[in-house]
Amino acid sequence: MDKFIITGGKKLEGKTQVSGAKNASLALMPATLLSYGKSTLFNTPELNDVFTMIKLLKHLGVESTFSNSVLELNTTNINNYVAPYEHVKKMRASVYVLGPLLTRFGYAKVSLPGGCAWGPRPINLHLEGLKKMGADIELTEGYIVAKAKKLNGAKIIFDVSSVGATGNLLMAAVLAKGTTVISNAALEPEIINLAEFLVKMGAKIEGINTTTLTIEGVDSLQAANAETISDRIEAGTILIAAAITKGKVVIEKIDPKYLNAVILKLEDSGCKVKLYDHAIEVDAQEIMINPTNISTAPFPGFPTDVQAQWTAYMSLANGVSTVTDTVYLDRFMHVSELVRLGADIVVKENSAVIKGVSKLKGAKVMSTDLRASACLVLAGLAAEGNTEVLRVYHLDRGYQRIEEKLMSLGASIERVEGKEY
Ligand code: EPZ
Repeated sequence: MDKFIITGGKKLEGKTQVSGAKNASLALMPATLLSYGKSTLFNTPELNDVFTMIKLLKHLGVESTFSNSVLELNTTNINNYVAPYEHVKKMRASVYVLGPLLTRFGYAKVSLPGGCAWGPRPINLHLEGLKKMGADIELTEGYIVAKAKKLNGAKIIFDVSSVGATGNLLMAAVLAKGTTVISNAALEPEIINLAEFLVKMGAKIEGINTTTLTIEGVDSLQAANAETISDRIEAGTILIAAAITKGKVVIEKIDPKYLNAVILKLEDSGCKVKLYDHAIEVDAQEIMINPTNISTAPFPGFPTDVQAQWTAYMSLANGVSTVTDTVYLDRFMHVSELVRLGADIVVKENSAVIKGVSKLKGAKVMSTDLRASACLVLAGLAAEGNTEVLRVYHLDRGYQRIEEKLMSLGASIERVEGKEY
C-alpha cells in the first residue's frame, strides 16, 4: 500500500488542469449497457474506481479499450446480468448497473453494496422507484434480485435528493413502456452529463437541468459518444490546497458554475477569486484565513465531497468555524486524524466545531476514505515538517495522480510505493 511523504510550508503557485469527473464516468459507463454496439467516452479519468467499473462491465460481457482518457465500451455481447459481491463491495456505484440491466434484459442480480467508512448509505429510493415501475424486487443472500418483463412508466418522487437514485431510475425509465416523471431529481452536473448522453443515444428526456425529469420510454437506444465533464470535486480540492498554503493557482478546463458555492465560501474566507469561461484563479497570498461556516447540501449547495477538505482549511482559520454535513451526518472520520496534526476540532452530532490554530505539525496519519485522505494531504501541505499519509489507495480511487498535479504547483510531495504501512 503506497503512502505520501509531504514536506509542508510550500505555497502552491502556477497552473494545472483537472481530469474528467469520477462521478460522471461511473454513471456514463453503465449507461452504455442500454445500447448495442460501441460507445466512446472521452475525458474518462484513469482512476481505480473507473478500472473497477471496467472489470464489472467486463464480467457482464462488455469489451473495452482505454488509453489517453478515451474509453471505448462495446456492449454487443452482454451475456451476464449478475454484479457479484466481490465487485460491488469495492465500489458502491456498481449499483448503477441495476437500472440498465433490468430495463433492457428484464433481469438483474446485484449485490447489496454493504457498508461504507462513514455510516449507512441506503439504496431504498432506488428499489422503491423500480418497484413503482413494476419490478419484482427480492433481497436474498445479500443480493438484490430484480425481475420485470417490461418496466412501466411511473410517477416517482424522492424524499431526499439522491444522485444515485436519480441516475439509476433515469436509466431504467428510458426503455420503460410509457412516461416516467421523476420529481425532486438531483441537479448535480454529473447527472446532467448522464441525461445528455442518454438523449444522444436516442432517449426522450424533458426537464434536464431541473428537478423534474419527464421521460418518454423508447424501444431501443443506439451507442453514442460522450464527453465526460471535468471533476468539480478535484477542482474544489485543488482550490482549497492553494488557499490553505496561501498560494496563487489557476485551474483550467473547469466551468466555474460547477463550483459556485465553494467559490463564494473561499471569498468569504479571504481569498481573491477570478473567474474565466473555463478556468478559476484563486489568490490566497498573505491572507489571514477568516473563520467561515459551511453547511453541505445537494447541488448547487456546498458539496459534501468537499466538506473534509474545508474542515482542514478551517483548522488554520483565525477564529472558530462550524462545518455541518446535512447529506452524510457522520462523515467526520478525518477529524481524529486532523487532531493528530494539531487541529482543535470537536464533533457534535453532524457538525464539526473548529477552533483555528496558528499552525499544524506534521505527523503520520491514516487515510480512511477517499475525501478524508484528500483532507489529510491538504493539511500536510500546510503543516510544519513532514506528514506521512498512509494507505493512499483510498485517494487513488478518485484522484488521477494528484501528487503530480500538486508537485507541478510547487508542493513537496512524494509517493512511496508498496509495503504494508
Ligand atoms: C453520490 O453518491 C456520489 N457518488 C458521492 O460521492 C456523493 O457524496 C453523493 O452522491 C452526494 O453528492 C457517486 O456519484 C458515485 P446520494 P450517492 O444518493 O449517489 C440518502 C465521492 O466521494 N439516500 O446522492 O450514493 C443518502 O444516505 C462519493 O466521490 C437515501 O436515503 O449519494 C444521503 O444522505 C462519496 N436512500 C443522501 O441520500 C437512497 O436510496 C444523498 O445520497 C439513496 C440515498
